[in-house]
Amino acid sequence: MTPVTPRRAVWAFALALPTALASIAAAAERTTPSIFDPVSTPAFAIRELSYRVFGITGFIFVVVAGLAVYTLIRFRSRAGDERGEPPQIYGSTQIEIAWTVVPLIIVVVLFLVTARYIYGIERRAMPAGALEVTVVGHQWWWEVRYPGLGIVTANEIHVPVSDPAGATPTFLTLESVDVVHSFWVPQLAGKMDVVPNKTNRMWIDPRTLGTYVGQCAEYCGTQHAWMLLLVVVHPRDEFERWVAAQRTPARDEVAARAGYQLFHSLACINCHTVRGTPANGVFGPDLTHLMSRRTIGAGAASNTPEALRAWVDDPAAIKPGALMPTMKLSSDELNHLTAYLLTLR
Ligand code: CUA
Repeated sequence: MTPVTPRRAVWAFALALPTALASIAAAAERTTPSIFDPVSTPAFAIRELSYRVFGITGFIFVVVAGLAVYTLIRFRSRAGDERGEPPQIYGSTQIEIAWTVVPLIIVVVLFLVTARYIYGIERRAMPAGALEVTVVGHQWWWEVRYPGLGIVTANEIHVPVSDPAGATPTFLTLESVDVVHSFWVPQLAGKMDVVPNKTNRMWIDPRTLGTYVGQCAEYCGTQHAWMLLLVVVHPRDEFERWVAAQRTPARDEVAARAGYQLFHSLACINCHTVRGTPANGVFGPDLTHLMSRRTIGAGAASNTPEALRAWVDDPAAIKPGALMPTMKLSSDELNHLTAYLLTLR
């Protein structure tokens, strides 16, 4: 067997690195949102700031590493070198002042550059045509309210595209009902903490149609990792149609009557609202248009009939720690209930 020498280990690492990086990049292509791919003004500003900070710190890195490499090579010990130890110098006020003041100046510059960008984003006043959305963090999902439109949904924010010609930004009010969460959709804006008893504000003006992925960015308990959200950016007319559809009360389909009755006889209605029915709980997500959403459990599963049935049967099997209890329903009851939920389009 070949012994693993440090040199071999370094070579193995160096050879494996490109493959590892390529697979990370491929995975990133599919799922991971990047701050380097912005589509909204605050996110563009953040990318610009990142480049500036990388520029400044990169320059410092090159200078320091360059001097270190130069010193290592220029003053290395050579064969037959008789000089022994270099002179030992203890303390130099001038050098100590220099290496205190220079980093201080660098930190102040970085601080001022950052403050300028933060101020630029924060001072933007809400224009007349802006859409207002309130996002409420829960363990472990996002409640999304449109106070001006009478819509309540969950884990998906639908907004109109904001082209620079006729800007229609969306202003977000961020709240939490339990613990501190953090709202972060990297391609749209920076992170903003969602704090109980405090209201935070931020805004986005997505210029490109598409669906952008966000995630809670502050550890908030067992299911912090499954607190995903989607921001869907529509053309104006498509957004209007989404609003119109969301504003309608829930359907009442005769075929799903058994499920409807079951739903309203169980504890479901203590936590969930279905507009147009007696169910008006506010602890869990509003289910009026449940089937218009892509995921259940804030991204824990795709919103398919099978997953929905499994979720109602035992939420903890899909999302351990989820606050929705299992109702211990029979297979028939589950079928009826799922059939009813499927009508909530
Ligand atoms: Cu909510 Cu982490």
